[in-house]
Amino acid sequence: MDLTGREIVLGVTGGIAAYKSAEIVSRLRHLGANVHVIMTKNATEFVSPLTFQTLSANQVVTDTFAAPEYWNVEHVALAKLAEVFVIAPATANILAKMANGIADDMLSTTVLATKAPILTAPAMNTGMWTAEATEQNVKTLKERGVLMIGPESGILACGDEGAGRMSEPEAIVEEICRILKRKQDFAGKKLLVTAGATRERLDPVRFITNDSSGKMGFAIAEAARDRGAEVTVIRGSVTAEIPAGIRMIPVESAQDLYDAMMKEAPGQDIIIQAAAVSDYRPAEQKDKKIKKVNGGNLMLELTENPDVAKAIGEKKKPGQILVGFAAETDNVEKNAQSKLKKKNLDMIVANDVTKPGAGFNVDTNIAALITADGIVEQPLQTKRQLAEKILDKILEIRNRI
Ligand code: CTP
Repeated sequence: MDLTGREIVLGVTGGIAAYKSAEIVSRLRHLGANVHVIMTKNATEFVSPLTFQTLSANQVVTDTFAAPEYWNVEHVALAKLAEVFVIAPATANILAKMANGIADDMLSTTVLATKAPILTAPAMNTGMWTAEATEQNVKTLKERGVLMIGPESGILACGDEGAGRMSEPEAIVEEICRILKRKQDFAGKKLLVTAGATRERLDPVRFITNDSSGKMGFAIAEAARDRGAEVTVIRGSVTAEIPAGIRMIPVESAQDLYDAMMKEAPGQDIIIQAAAVSDYRPAEQKDKKIKKVNGGNLMLELTENPDVAKAIGEKKKPGQILVGFAAETDNVEKNAQSKLKKKNLDMIVANDVTKPGAGFNVDTNIAALITADGIVEQPLQTKRQLAEKILDKILEIRNRI
């Protein structure tokens, strides 16, 4: 990838892996990037600033002689300049400072001020990496959207074996390229995704639900986040890992989903309904556990739930794009076409959940993207790849409106 003219700030903290960061600078320079290095005082004990200065061909910022006034100018300038802010190696100390907003030296001050994507490459002793305090800090940072690569497992400088080694410079540079390459074609757009399964309560300990894991909805939310959208997810019950940096509204039943959607939908540009919504709920919800009656059958009476997608379709705002999903087991395209019309959708993503590699609880999917214009078949691919295709198609529809 050609990085000519791209501005990258690299923070180097005090770990033995600091010497490896010299290779990150030289690889980035080789690709044409302009690299600005900030070293903590401890980092300068491991590697001389002159190394980074020579490799980056830029003045290295250190705290050694920096007066606070100097920080004020420099930290704002570099924070604004950065297109990606990388910290490699990132010690337990810098992660702790970042998680808590501590700004007591040049690097922590600058990283606090930046709006650029932040990529950290942690490196530390296994005991420090697995310490509860570090785990908490890492969780906090990830929730705020701070990106992390590694650490890898192996023999560490201290002789211990386990997780804590900084990722290889080559992998870090690849990750930087990936971040810089990200399309920002959803910037300024508000996008709502529904994900997961609804739960319809029978009594305090039982409910009716389905196999939806939330994976497809989350893959769309992550892809849209990475392409610059302001994303909200309304999620039912999920088994997939909840993605970081995304506003989440948890709901339980189809009625809860309906209520949340009525509130959130009007302000959205794009709504993608990947949740598997129960069409029926128990007619009666007992507030005490239903007891067994020996010898007889138990009859359950179910009553119809609101069709959320249909209701949203009826209230569709001008210019709003509505996308639905259809999980089918037979007559996939015909059923999906009729749902497209019935629910006033712009697109329906239809999948045959009986095919291996498609449907619930797997990382892949096979689908057909159905619009008023026709059908585009999507062969077996990861849910993230399919998510990108769905977003591409949404932009096509938008350009036509
Ligand atoms: N959907 C919804 N509310 C419901 C049922 C479904 O909003 N009560 C939405 C789903 O989120 C999905 C789309 O409608 O985006 C299609 O869901 P699906 O279950 O396939 O369609 P149904 O209309 O329920 O038809 P059927 O179950 O008969 O196939």
